Amino acid sequence: MTTMKNFLLLSAFGLLWASCQPEVPADPIAEYLNLPATPYDYTPTNLPEHFAQANVLASDNTPLTNPVTDEGATLGRVLFYDKNLSANRTLACASCHQQGLGFGDSARFSTGFAGGKTGRHSMGLSNARFYANGAFFWDERAASLEEQVLIPVQDPIEMGMSLDSVVARVNALPYYAPLFESAFGSEDITETGIRNALAQFVRSIMSYSSPYDQGRAQVNTPGEPFPNFTAQENQGKALFFGIPPGPGGPPVPGACVTCHGTEAFTAPGPRNNGLDAVTTDAGVGGVNGNPAQLGLFKVPSLRNLTGRGPYMHDGRFATLAQVIDHYSTGVQDHPNLSPQLRGPNGDPVVPNFSAAQKAALVAFLQTLDDASLANDVKYGNPFK
Ligand code: HEC
Ligand code: HEC
Repeated sequence: MTTMKNFLLLSAFGLLWASCQPEVPADPIAEYLNLPATPYDYTPTNLPEHFAQANVLASDNTPLTNPVTDEGATLGRVLFYDKNLSANRTLACASCHQQGLGFGDSARFSTGFAGGKTGRHSMGLSNARFYANGAFFWDERAASLEEQVLIPVQDPIEMGMSLDSVVARVNALPYYAPLFESAFGSEDITETGIRNALAQFVRSIMSYSSPYDQGRAQVNTPGEPFPNFTAQENQGKALFFGIPPGPGGPPVPGACVTCHGTEAFTAPGPRNNGLDAVTTDAGVGGVNGNPAQLGLFKVPSLRNLTGRGPYMHDGRFATLAQVIDHYSTGVQDHPNLSPQLRGPNGDPVVPNFSAAQKAALVAFLQTLDDASLANDVKYGNPFK
């Protein structure tokens, strides 16, 4: 009799318990996400020849322990667009790193989950993979991308979470178990898995299909005129690469390519580009305590610039024309000004570009915009 009573009681509790559980849909991925049955290709092997050059590939900061896989980047993409990763579920990584804006932001300082403003301008993420020293953030305070990706979630302005609460949130969302299973062979949701998947997605964001790339593929060296460029774009390209503007013309000092080099348009490490004569933001030196690196900042890739201005770590220049004005006559004699921007006498360079040269440089920079990256669904928001 007692056994029967216990049985009924237990069944009643069982029913009650079951009815309190959130319903797990039969196919949680299809319920919440638009994902293809076979993952998109995040590991293309058909990179254009000019892009897949030794000097670009040598700057790839992918660690052996976390290669990009199609399944890992798919999971990373979902995490990147998931607003549940911020304290009040209003903000995702993608809120400040927008696909249509070179994975950057058009606000000078981005707005965090509770309305606060970030201390620096958001960074574009296309080709972030190609930066040889592997350090991330303007001041390079994260030694690797794996270290970087969990910092914004914990930032009190940006997303306002603790690592434990992020793991708990991800655990509670039904679509993550199958995504973890595909990516890492286990439904176990871990901090390491979240970190590695986010880093894989960011590294998958490669840009090599701009008008620049289309022209580059048709010639042997970047210095040659590109058949698909206007005369103005070719003039800007010549100035960028520091080739004399014409027969007998003076060589252009402070050529852009000396810092924004290779087909990825980045440098191997941080530089000071003469924004201020005295340090206002300590940059890399403020992190590592090296006085010779005070005022040095990460050299961003110049791909996909147009939408993600204002420019520089503090977004001080609203337009590319203002950036060119800076390099033309505005380079300041900071004690750590990088030698690439000093002339033979040690003074800051003053190339004093003409109006036509300035317009040509801007026109050239715009050839680095990659419309296919901006529209590629594999980098877009997967949520329904
Ligand atoms: C509220 C806006 C905001 C959100 C949300 C945000 N970021 Fe950022 N991100 C920034 C800003 C601002 C910087 C530059 C900060 C600095 O250097 O001090 C930055 C820098 C970065 C960088 C460094 C790029 C480089 O080349 O060094 C990466 C990578 C990055 N964010 C990835 C992410 C990921 C992944 C997420 C989500 C987990 C995320 N961000 C969420 C604003 C944001
Ligand atoms: C000494 C190395 C150096 C040289 C030479 C150089 N740059 Fe830069 N560039 C940098 C650094 C470092 C930054 C980031 C500075 C910061 O935000 O503090 C930068 C930033 C930029 C940005 C803004 C990118 C962004 O994401 O906000 C543009 C555009 C740019 N440079 C274009 C050029 C052009 C065009 C030239 C040639 C006229 C040039 N640079 C020459 C080092 C250099």
